[in-house]
Amino acid sequence: MSQQSIKRILVTGGAGFIGSAFVRYVLGQKSSVEKLINLDKLTYAANLDSLASVEGDPRYVFIKGDIQNGPLVEELVRTHEIDTIVHFAAESHVDRSISDPRLFYKTNVEGTISLLEIVRRFPHIHFHHISTDEVYGSIEEGTFFEDSPYRPNSPYAASKAASDHFVRAYAKTYNLSVTLSHSSNNYGPHQYREKFIPRMIYNCLKKEQLPVYGKGINVRDWLFVEDHAEAIWLILEKGKRGEHYNVGANSEMRNIDLLKMLIERLADVQGDNLNQLQSLITHVEDRPGHDLRYSLSSKKLESDLGWEPKHPFDLGIEKTIQWYVDAWK
Ligand SMILES: NC(=O)c1ccc[n+]([C@@H]2O[C@H](COP(=O)([O-])OP(=O)(O)OC[C@H]3O[C@@H](n4cnc5c(N)ncnc54)[C@H](O)[C@@H]3O)[C@@H](O)[C@H]2O)c1
Repeated sequence: MSQQSIKRILVTGGAGFIGSAFVRYVLGQKSSVEKLINLDKLTYAANLDSLASVEGDPRYVFIKGDIQNGPLVEELVRTHEIDTIVHFAAESHVDRSISDPRLFYKTNVEGTISLLEIVRRFPHIHFHHISTDEVYGSIEEGTFFEDSPYRPNSPYAASKAASDHFVRAYAKTYNLSVTLSHSSNNYGPHQYREKFIPRMIYNCLKKEQLPVYGKGINVRDWLFVEDHAEAIWLILEKGKRGEHYNVGANSEMRNIDLLKMLIERLADVQGDNLNQLQSLITHVEDRPGHDLRYSLSSKKLESDLGWEPKHPFDLGIEKTIQWYVDAWK
């Protein structure tokens, strides 16, 4: 059964990198949406500037708050007659999960359960859960499909995997309407500087060292964040209830190759000395448990819902570099 029309959405974590791209996408297109409530705790990763373009939209309401605050979420759901929840809010940085796994458990697992408890009380609500390719673990050859086994290797991935299992279990046990999506690494404007691409761009602009874990041979698939936002919308509109969808970009790269490409483009855009930028590359001790390769097949999303990424990597990265150069000049 497909999802009915989506009129009144509660977005969690909508001041973060992907959540804000989704909010801008939904309010920027002609859609059925009458109200969009953005509930965000505003942790270090949030950035309200990324939402400046929607602030004046009468359909948009921002609420500072925690997904674990049940009474607040319940009040929002009641007052705004929410029919759809899109759940982005999470701790999202693997390195931070290695130093503080419990925080990831609390936000990502307990936070998701808190929201599911609300959906249990308002079972007309459709719940879309944003997951990650990292729940499948590392794959040296081949690619992950939606029925691949879960093998999370970092505390972050384990917390996301656990939250996915709770979403599935609540749907089965309490007959709730849910969908889940697993995307690969996102890139684009407004990403917090701790993540690989903005960090490397920033350090190149500031002529600071460019730290690369180990030999830099870890492979990631890179998805432009606006393509991800579009995929989520499509899943909400047409996705089959109870299903998982992978959202990948067919754009796999070794970290070191990605960095060298960023350096070349930045040298070109900025008129900087290529050799000088290259000499900033510093190989640092590898991340513990570092997954070698992620790879996702999006065949299901493409064949069932007609999605395909609109930004080949060349185009997405050009937009991204220009955005950060303008933001940080
Ligand atoms: N960034 C990626 O490449 C990527 C890839 C796949 C999946 N994901 C998933 O997508 C989602 C969004 O990722 P992102 O990169 O935008 O994250 P982000 O770290 O940029 O943003 C997370 C947002 O959640 C908010 N938040 C955190 N704890 C909260 C709480 N308790 N209550 C309310 N708000 C809270 C933060 O303030 C922040 O605005 C996450 O669930 C993440 O696991 C991310």
